[in-house]
Amino acid sequence: MSHRDLQNRVLIITGASAGIGRETALLFARERCRLVLAARRQDRLESLLAEIKSLGGEAVSLPIDVSDQDQVEHLVRATAERFGRLDILVNNAGYGLFATVEDTTVGELQSIFATNFAGPFYAIKAALPIMRRQRYGHIINVSSIAGKRAFPFSGAYCATKFAMNGLTESLRTELMGSGIDVSLVLPIGTNTEFFAVAKNKSARPAKPLGIVQSAQQVAEAIVKCAKNPKAEVLPYPPSRVLILLNSISPRLVDWVGAKLVHRSQRK
Ligand SMILES: NC(=O)c1ccc[n+]([C@@H]2O[C@H](COP(=O)([O-])OP(=O)(O)OC[C@H]3O[C@@H](n4cnc5c(N)ncnc54)[C@H](OP(=O)(O)O)[C@@H]3O)[C@@H](O)[C@H]2O)c1
Repeated sequence: MSHRDLQNRVLIITGASAGIGRETALLFARERCRLVLAARRQDRLESLLAEIKSLGGEAVSLPIDVSDQDQVEHLVRATAERFGRLDILVNNAGYGLFATVEDTTVGELQSIFATNFAGPFYAIKAALPIMRRQRYGHIINVSSIAGKRAFPFSGAYCATKFAMNGLTESLRTELMGSGIDVSLVLPIGTNTEFFAVAKNKSARPAKPLGIVQSAQQVAEAIVKCAKNPKAEVLPYPPSRVLILLNSISPRLVDWVGAKLVHRSQRK
């Protein structure tokens, strides 16, 4: 099994100001990658930058909103200008919306697609010409297990992740033989600010259903995938059971989902 040395690789991570993105950035910094950290909150990015520099790492930050195509294109251009290349793109920025389909407005649907789906699409489009020239690159899309099997009260969010999965699969096939790898990361509920930040229109508290993993576990799975590219990464491997079960009996998974929601309400 070949293992890539990540030293000096140039990486963009979106959503680096918190949670999974922040942990992933720190782990890549330990591998001596050169990092471009992107998110909206500049103060958070600067404190991460300081932490990476104190570890002896090399990084720059760029405050951008991934839902804005011009800003995403600027991010990719600025990376190529600063470092002369782009090796790994981690599309991680995203947020949640807890609402029934009936309560989700068209505006909310458009907003969540703009960040969780269009943002990665803009970044991929901007990165591909560079990666094609290099005949080398790795696009890592952070989706969710909710992009394989949707949960109740988050239809729009799950739809953004299903969309990301579709885009990723198409792209991976299109890029076969190009030297550019494409990977999909499917975390389960993860202990980050995600649930506190998420817009919650449901009558229920926004919290993960079932088992929760740490952002560190997801970050480790992402770095492992960068060293040894995989089509799909399940940072919590037993979640494969959910995917299999859903392909056999979606009704059974409906029932389990409903039970978990009911239980989480009582806690
Ligand atoms: N936590 C979970 O249970 C879980 C499970 C499966 C998948 N995921 C996915 O993992 C990814 C990371 O989530 P997390 O759990 O680490 O959540 P988090 O702690 O809330 O972090 C989200 C990151 O995305 C950034 N972000 C959000 N909107 C943005 C925008 N418009 N432009 C630029 N950056 C933006 C945030 O930074 P700023 O606010 O500074 O912009 C922050 O850095 C998301 O795609 C999420 O869907 C999370």
